[in-house]
Amino acid sequence: MKKILLLGLLFVILAVKSEVIKVETADLAMVFTVNQEKKVVYQYFGEKQNDYSGFEKRIFPRRPDTRTDFSPELYPAYGHRSYQEPALQATHYDGVLTTQLLYAGHEIRSIDSNTTETVIRLKDAVYPFFVDVVFSAYQKENVISQRTVISHNEQGTVALGIISSAYLPLHNQVYYLTHFHGTWAAEMQLKEEQLQPGIKKIESKKGVRTTQSENPSFLIAFDHPAMEEEGEVYGGSLAWSGNYCLAFELDETGMLNILSGVNPFISTYKLKGNERFETPEMIWTYSRSGKGAVSRNFHDWSRKYALRAGNSLRPIVLNSWEGAYFTFDEKVITGMIDDAAKFGIELFVLDDGWFGNRYPRNNDNAGLGDWQVNIWKLPRGIDYLAFYAHQRGMKFGIWIEPEMVNPESDLARLHPEWIVKSGTREILTLRNQWLLDLTNPVVQDFVYQTFVDVMALSKYIDYIKWDANRHVENVGSDFLSGDCQSHFWIDYTKGLYSVYERVRARFPDVMIQLCSSGGGRLDFGALRYHNEFWASDNTNPYNRVFIQYGTNHFFPAMATGAHVSTSPNHQTGVTSPIKFRFDVAMSGRLGMELQPGDIAGEDRIFARQAVENYKKIRSVVQLGDLYRIHSPYSEEAWATLAYVSKDKKESVLFAYSLKPHERTKYLEIKLKGLDASKKYKLVELNAFNGHSSFDGNENVFTGEFLMKTGIYLNINRQYDSAVIWIKEDEVPVHDSYATERL
Ligand code: GLA
Repeated sequence: MKKILLLGLLFVILAVKSEVIKVETADLAMVFTVNQEKKVVYQYFGEKQNDYSGFEKRIFPRRPDTRTDFSPELYPAYGHRSYQEPALQATHYDGVLTTQLLYAGHEIRSIDSNTTETVIRLKDAVYPFFVDVVFSAYQKENVISQRTVISHNEQGTVALGIISSAYLPLHNQVYYLTHFHGTWAAEMQLKEEQLQPGIKKIESKKGVRTTQSENPSFLIAFDHPAMEEEGEVYGGSLAWSGNYCLAFELDETGMLNILSGVNPFISTYKLKGNERFETPEMIWTYSRSGKGAVSRNFHDWSRKYALRAGNSLRPIVLNSWEGAYFTFDEKVITGMIDDAAKFGIELFVLDDGWFGNRYPRNNDNAGLGDWQVNIWKLPRGIDYLAFYAHQRGMKFGIWIEPEMVNPESDLARLHPEWIVKSGTREILTLRNQWLLDLTNPVVQDFVYQTFVDVMALSKYIDYIKWDANRHVENVGSDFLSGDCQSHFWIDYTKGLYSVYERVRARFPDVMIQLCSSGGGRLDFGALRYHNEFWASDNTNPYNRVFIQYGTNHFFPAMATGAHVSTSPNHQTGVTSPIKFRFDVAMSGRLGMELQPGDIAGEDRIFARQAVENYKKIRSVVQLGDLYRIHSPYSEEAWATLAYVSKDKKESVLFAYSLKPHERTKYLEIKLKGLDASKKYKLVELNAFNGHSSFDGNENVFTGEFLMKTGIYLNINRQYDSAVIWIKEDEVPVHDSYATERL
């Protein structure tokens, strides 16, 4: 009798045992199980565990009202027992609005020594409708990307209403969301809030410049606001440059349902039987040691997988925009190049204003679309200037905005059918320009050819700044059929990516800057084709401290274009010392954006030295690990951050005073990320006219002392700042840029 009971019990246990599917990196794991009803349950995302047998038997509580269990699905479709925001809504060929996705198999394969791909296959319970959820796990970087591939064999078209890239269920009761809000010239302003029951959405409906007012990147911290080095923090970033939507639904069970993907806003996508729909990738990471580790994971991953040449040091730039705007000729530009050379600049970028003849680009009213060199301004062409820069030891770059057209242009007259428009409604201008319809392959060819033609202007072009200065209004396409106008938003972005692909296939090595009125297109979808991005049109250093603090939560310093401009600042009218301007720009990819010939006297001596100093520290800034120490948002209004080289032999500390502090107050900094057992010499860089803010200059301290006791800096006035180079005694200066690139 006992035996029979035991056997019976064993049978019950075996019967409820679920198959476990794991997606693992070096330290993280996502865990899914397949239950008896073939539902794929999203069990867990967090630190890797040694033993997963618990998940085989884990039983979720049942809801007292409906008696259904609380177990979340891998990819919840609207339909069968779904009460939450769905990841997918499909209207089947016969008009049925619901979908029930069941397990249909899974595969795990190794892509390379660092990456595994896991595909979990789902199929509708009734219709030949298939969803593959695809994970790429990057071992060393502790990043997992997730995307979805949808296909079907139904007798007619399926209308995809909601098509998320990923769903993540979290269970903790108290959640803090950090997101990055902003506007033109004030991008990536950090906002943090405790989520309340209901749905919080972060989205863009702008089509282009989709990250100007919200970035598709966020952090979720458990129990308390996200801390730098402690606590559980999830990080997510959607790699998509079109309309997006991130939804955070705190439901009645205390579960936080996070959905991310293309924005369903007027975007129904009609999928024919032989087509596949692939969503953008959602990039995930997690840490039990705070958001600092989350950022470092994103930086490591993007340097390797989402940034061109992520291991090569970036050159120091002089960009012509704020120094010359549209008003220049050959003499002005060669003068700037000559002056740039005197400052040790390594790359000169000719910004807007060099093209258009019948409709010359002398202001932002005319010329976009007509990418021929303006013969009055530059009679000897771009080749003359590019060669001129090269002769002076500098690389050369040039600005384009190839997705756009001014009404005042030959192109607008020649191809009105290429312009984005809503039927016969008025085509609205923004910055006096219209948008070209990249859903149309012929327009894609034109944009690609523009790039090719501009590159052909000189063999000395090393860098392109690709700008996009408007978003979509009065949406519509002459190319798309009447019943597929809602494909515009997705097809535009896919069209753009297809152009990027072609450009990169033909020009794998040219440096390309991602710009969209500053940081209006800052996402991992676009960034992977670029070497860097222009973080903001606002070059005022005070504002830049906040903007760069926001961007560095996800995007690495080596890609963050940060330029020293003139004072008073052109965007804000604020006056600040040249040291503060340099000290802020040197925490990113340093550049200048002014008339270098205007820098005079002590400022000139300082600027030349600062450029040389950047060359000493740039490998640490660009390739090292970031540690944020004091947030600019703190009441104390001192902001500090440090980079530490991977071998921990060097670090660079940046400190900024953002308000006038009482004279008796002083800033205490405990350094982070050093090797406790190493001895470091601390050298203050960029001391203006010999004035030091660090009493311990040139002294040697142990890493332990620097991290546990710390140092003091005397930076009390508003816009005081300091740069401290922390170097293991006797480490030779390492700047491979000069040998590698020039
Ligand atoms: C945008 C960019 C600027 C500059 C101008 C030129 O605003 O963000 O950096 O290139 O266009 O028109």
